[in-house]
Amino acid sequence: MDIDTTAVNRLRQRFGEHEQIWLFGYGSLIFKAGFPYLERKQASITGHVRRFWQGSHDHRGTPEFPGRVVTLAPQAGATCSGMAYLILPEVFDYLDHREKNGYLRFSTTLTFDDGSNAQALVYIADPDNAAYLGPATDTAIAGQIAAASGPSGRNRDYLTELADALAGLGKTDPHVQALVDCLPPDSSPDTFNNTDSR
Ligand code: BEZ
Repeated sequence: MDIDTTAVNRLRQRFGEHEQIWLFGYGSLIFKAGFPYLERKQASITGHVRRFWQGSHDHRGTPEFPGRVVTLAPQAGATCSGMAYLILPEVFDYLDHREKNGYLRFSTTLTFDDGSNAQALVYIADPDNAAYLGPATDTAIAGQIAAASGPSGRNRDYLTELADALAGLGKTDPHVQALVDCLPPDSSPDTFNNTDSR
């Protein structure tokens, strides 16, 4: 799928005087950073829920058989827990490439677990992007995840690693847990060499 948001993201935020920026992670960034950071702290953002509504043609699936990965969907009053990373601006070159399949950077306000706040950036894949799949039943989403695999590994491993990481933070997510509970038995080997980083 030929949609590359790298160039768009470069124009979206100018880091100007900022020497360090907080990044909010709510998906694979929780269990696999893959980039250097200065500090890492549990945090949350409000007004959004985590949803397996974004297609993955490049990491956990293929163009022929896309997997599903998380994005954020707006929901009034909701809180989404994750992990915040304090990073240098140049790390966004790496992230823009890694998340080029439909994600755009947005500004947000973080709340750390001690109650303090900070401005941050977050990658969100909204319904306008070409890889967006949107809602489906838990059974349908879990079935697609169970069958998909890509250069970053099996889609089911992404789901279970995210569920385990959230549980480890004490922040179990009902949507993620419902999908784990719907996964069919694990029988498929990883057919990719799993050389990528997400
Ligand atoms: C994350 O792990 O928070 C993340 C999700 C989607 C795109 C980029 C990062």
